[in-house]
Amino acid sequence: MNSLIYLLSINLNFSDYKNLGIGSTMVKLIIEHLDTRLWKWSYIEYKHISDFAGKENVIFTNIKGPKTTEKLSRLGEVHQESIKNLKFNNACVLDPSAEKTLSPKDNYDYLILGGILGDHPPQERTKEMLTKRLELPSRNLGTRQFSTNTAAYVALKICRGTPIEKIEFEDELVVKVSDSEEIILPFPYVKEKGKLVIPEGYLALVTGH
Ligand SMILES: C[S@@+](CC[C@H](N)C(=O)[O-])C[C@H]1O[C@@H](n2cnc3c(N)ncnc32)[C@H](O)[C@@H]1O
Repeated sequence: MNSLIYLLSINLNFSDYKNLGIGSTMVKLIIEHLDTRLWKWSYIEYKHISDFAGKENVIFTNIKGPKTTEKLSRLGEVHQESIKNLKFNNACVLDPSAEKTLSPKDNYDYLILGGILGDHPPQERTKEMLTKRLELPSRNLGTRQFSTNTAAYVALKICRGTPIEKIEFEDELVVKVSDSEEIILPFPYVKEKGKLVIPEGYLALVTGH
């Protein structure tokens, strides 16, 4: 089905997430910020994670500068240190190039994600910047490249008992910006009850209004 059809009814809101119980797992999400600055796009993704997981379940690491620290403190716990210098027990790195897929049977207390925007073709940056530098187990979420917020959402769903094969996705999102122009966002988006799971403000950022 054409993803444009969803555009009028797409955003799940805060109470939808509460009803779906996405944040009610014991697992906490650690986002190691790896981009050179906090892009608007990254902030929108991080806010989305905080919205569905709950602020108390989100930890940001490798955060530099007072402004970024202040902004992200509203969304979760903030550490200036990199995850490489911090100790969290029973943690696992979510890495597209990991050999094993995250399963509902895994029982990690912390899932570590790369705070990096996607690239095409993917450059295995998670492997280079995280997995190789941490002596921790790693898991993939299947073969597709997700944005950090979608990866976090998928991981929490798996931890709540839904294996990856049972999660519904829209393969890409086509956003019409004018009569003659469309923007194609080539990432998979989770679908819940016919609605796409995307951050608040996402379409405005994409379309510029
Ligand atoms: C936009 S992705 C970055 C992917 C990057 N291009 C790479 O090659 O690693 C941001 C983060 O989401 C998580 N992620 C995205 N897709 C994933 C997948 N298929 N399996 C596991 N983790 C994934 C990873 O933690 C990754 O660092």
